[in-house]
Amino acid sequence: PFEVELSRTGVTVPVGADETVLGVLRARGITVPFSCENGYCGTCEAVVLDGEPDHRDTYLTDDEKAEGFTTMICVSRCVGPRLVLDL
Ligand code: FES
Repeated sequence: PFEVELSRTGVTVPVGADETVLGVLRARGITVPFSCENGYCGTCEAVVLDGEPDHRDTYLTDDEKAEGFTTMICVSRCVGPRLVLDL
């Protein structure tokens, strides 16, 4: 489990082991673009402001994953306890 902070509103939401960031946001009525929900289309890409993403997608290149500037919130998670997204 980890927390995601949405920088534009300051809202912090917990993401459980059996949840996704996208799913948690949608359940709270937060509108974010998405399509495949399986980590390959790139639609749900979010900018990472702080924290280290645990990439689970097949969209970003290895270099992009190493940089960690963006993350696919439908599948990817967080290495540490907290991820801050530009959402
Ligand atoms: Fe397609 Fe997340 S919705 S990569």
